[in-house]
Amino acid sequence: MKNILIVYYSRMGHTARIVRRIAEQLEAKGDSVELMPVAEALREGVDWDKHDFVLCGFPVVYGTYHPNVYEFVRNNCTRLDHKPNAMFNVTVVARTPFKATVEGNRYMQNFLNRSPWRPRDLKCFAGKIDYPNLNFFDKKCIQLIMKITNGPTDPSMCIDFTDWDDVKAYADHIHELANQA
Ligand SMILES: Cc1cc2nc3c(=O)[nH]c(=O)nc-3n(C[C@H](O)[C@H](O)[C@H](O)COP(=O)(O)O)c2cc1C
Repeated sequence: MKNILIVYYSRMGHTARIVRRIAEQLEAKGDSVELMPVAEALREGVDWDKHDFVLCGFPVVYGTYHPNVYEFVRNNCTRLDHKPNAMFNVTVVARTPFKATVEGNRYMQNFLNRSPWRPRDLKCFAGKIDYPNLNFFDKKCIQLIMKITNGPTDPSMCIDFTDWDDVKAYADHIHELANQA
């Protein structure tokens, strides 16, 4: 049984949902989990000694990660490096198999190029497009991106591309990593 910290960002709530699902599964396996939005981690700091393993989960919005994400990894690079750790991203491009791989997901590659922290384990999840809950500007932009990439453009649709069985399997994988540490 390990103490696992999950630091995450979520603009529309989907990464938060993935994080909660991972936490549920880890707790079912006997781990103890603390969830911390990245803004809170920046504002209040992390009690690093409390945790055996750190998992970070960050979505991509308009081609990039929230500035808090890079600030967090810059400020805490050494701390992160000294603990067993893992990172996943959430993108809509990962709905296709190649872009769900670390090598094929350009946003993961961008993160690796920009971040001074090199996570020990990487994962790409496909996210969600919730047209009815997007504002006018976001809806138009996402429809345009979807049109270009042959994705769904119907503004009445909410499409969850996340493979939830894979999320559960990933949580089991994180449990294994944390408990062999
Ligand atoms: C305004 C907006 C912009 C987005 N931009 C991108 C993008 O550039 N590339 C991509 O792969 N996915 C993009 N997405 C998809 C998000 O990564 C996906 O919806 C994810 O589930 C969002 O996570 P969150 O709900 O935790 O914020 C975008 C989504 C929104 C709403």
